[in-house]
Amino acid sequence: MRIFIVYAHPSEDSFTRHIRDHFIRGVESAGHSYILSDLYKMNFKTDMNEAEYLREAFYSLDTPVPDDVLAEQNKINASDAIVFIYPVFWSDVPAKLKGWFDRVWTYGFAYGLNRSMKQLEKALVMVSAGNNSEYFDRTGLLDAMKKVILNDRLFDRVKTKEMIVFDSTSRELPERKFNWDKHLRRAFETGAKFWQ
Ligand SMILES: Cc1cc2nc3c(=O)[nH]c(=O)nc-3n(C[C@H](O)[C@H](O)[C@H](O)COP(=O)(O)O)c2cc1C
Repeated sequence: MRIFIVYAHPSEDSFTRHIRDHFIRGVESAGHSYILSDLYKMNFKTDMNEAEYLREAFYSLDTPVPDDVLAEQNKINASDAIVFIYPVFWSDVPAKLKGWFDRVWTYGFAYGLNRSMKQLEKALVMVSAGNNSEYFDRTGLLDAMKKVILNDRLFDRVKTKEMIVFDSTSRELPERKFNWDKHLRRAFETGAKFWQ
């Protein structure tokens, strides 16, 4: 089984990067393969140009999809599952990942009649967040984030989907250090048990 990992964090020195690497180690330990798109490292272009916008606005299958977008779509269709790993930025995905959805979820691939995107078996969304779970419950923000990514962006494009939040990970919080090993162990085990 192959997993496509879409990772978005601008820094090599981040908690989120450790989560990614531990998850990958878990996946490898279980003998599964993965493909990685490291969106900042790839310098993935996130702004649509006018031709891309017009393609989506007019549902025009005649306008070709750019090569960098096609490459991402091919990675999806060559996989059985998709995993997103990113930090919460302003109660959403980082702009880099939002732009990935804007450009990769094209008409004829991710939506519209006769879409060519394969229905994936599973999706997992792993996010790091500075705030704590009590704050998320009180404000309803986590619920809102979940609805957008799981119910709208992923929708019926995957059969089963789950979101895991590693909370209280701001650098100034003692919880960041305190929960570090526990969180990384969870990321490893999530990778190791991904297909169970
Ligand atoms: C621009 C920016 C916006 C952020 N917005 C939020 C937010 O809305 N909610 C939240 O819980 N954390 C927020 N954070 C905190 C990140 O999620 C935090 O960087 C992460 O949890 C810490 O892990 P890291 O070492 O991987 O960056 C924000 C951080 C940055 C840099």
